Amino acid sequence: MRFSTLDPEALRREVERFDAELPIERAFTPPSSWYVEPAFYALEQRAVLWRSWQPVARAEKLAQPGDYVSGCYAGMPWVVVRGDDGELRGFHNVCAHKGREVVTGSGRVDLAAGREPRLVCGYHAWAYRLDGALASAPQMAGVEAFARETMGLSPLAVEQWGHWVFVNGDAGAAPLSRTLAPLDGALEAGGWRELTFVQRVEYEVASNWKVIADNYLDGGYHVPHMHPTLAAQIDMKSYRTELFEHYSVQTSSPRSADARGPLDYDPEARIGGGAIYAWIYPTLMLNRYGPCLDSNHLVPLGPHRCKVIYEFYFAETEGEQARRFIEQSIAQAEITQREDIEICESVQIGLGSPAYDRGRYAPRVEQGEHHFHQLLARAYAAELGVTLCSASR
Ligand code: FES
Ligand SMILES: [Fe+2]
Repeated sequence: MRFSTLDPEALRREVERFDAELPIERAFTPPSSWYVEPAFYALEQRAVLWRSWQPVARAEKLAQPGDYVSGCYAGMPWVVVRGDDGELRGFHNVCAHKGREVVTGSGRVDLAAGREPRLVCGYHAWAYRLDGALASAPQMAGVEAFARETMGLSPLAVEQWGHWVFVNGDAGAAPLSRTLAPLDGALEAGGWRELTFVQRVEYEVASNWKVIADNYLDGGYHVPHMHPTLAAQIDMKSYRTELFEHYSVQTSSPRSADARGPLDYDPEARIGGGAIYAWIYPTLMLNRYGPCLDSNHLVPLGPHRCKVIYEFYFAETEGEQARRFIEQSIAQAEITQREDIEICESVQIGLGSPAYDRGRYAPRVEQGEHHFHQLLARAYAAELGVTLCSASR
């Protein structure tokens, strides 16, 4: 069935067509409408993207009292500020007057003694205290029923974890650090907090953001076919997926020296004792191997477009050898990313075809992808008030 827009009833039916309770062997993948329909994108903004933890800034950008960073995530403008009390606070970055973003970019609020620190809207100079309360609104004298106390900035949940500050539009969300405690332990054992940020790279991709997550979560299924240089570095037989409530972890070991072909640098140095590919619902991927970490954050730009933000972190950054290793590592990631972009853009074209409706899972490898779709289905259903049932359709 094809349609150009989904009315609310059709949207509910399309959510229900993915049966989240079926075991992977019997399950079908979600219908293509989840990836192409504007109505689905609008639904997932509310149900998924604005109600989940998004890493919006590196923590070092918010280290000092008064530091603020702002941006817009999937249509949700946000600002995070560190108060003069040292606390991080986050708000919807929307002025109560006419809706302008209160601040843009990043900077430091004036904390000079004797002055109340404020975020000031650039449009008509309404000013907000760092706890979000409206402090002043010029020229509003004489307005009837001006309920100043209800016109502060709406709060967001904020948390620092690893190298980043996260925001969540669900102000009552469970703490991320609690959800990720076991993963944190595994990463901590490898000293991931001590790694140094080196570079950020952004890629725009002509696909739905979920196509990239699906590709990441296929348990290495596509690696031998699409990533020859990566496949030369890891032992595909050792590839494993482990599922947790709101994240999953794929691991693999480096390929032994006699089993791999010639490469211009030592892959064991890059992969080290093995690779950890952690996916954190819904949009963050952490790739930890040897002396490096790269993070990939998905930033949806609409149903058919997204951005992937790569950040690279390394244990050693000084000296010729370290510089060469960093260069080669980032070059390898670039090759892999270009190959993945080609796949995802092609999949997006296929998902829009009248010949495709939904697919199946390879049970031994695609558990991470199935788990992701189950989490999505539950979030959509909760937003729409749909009860997911286990009858196969
Ligand atoms: S929109 Fe912010 S002061 Fe007018
Ligand atoms: Fe890939």
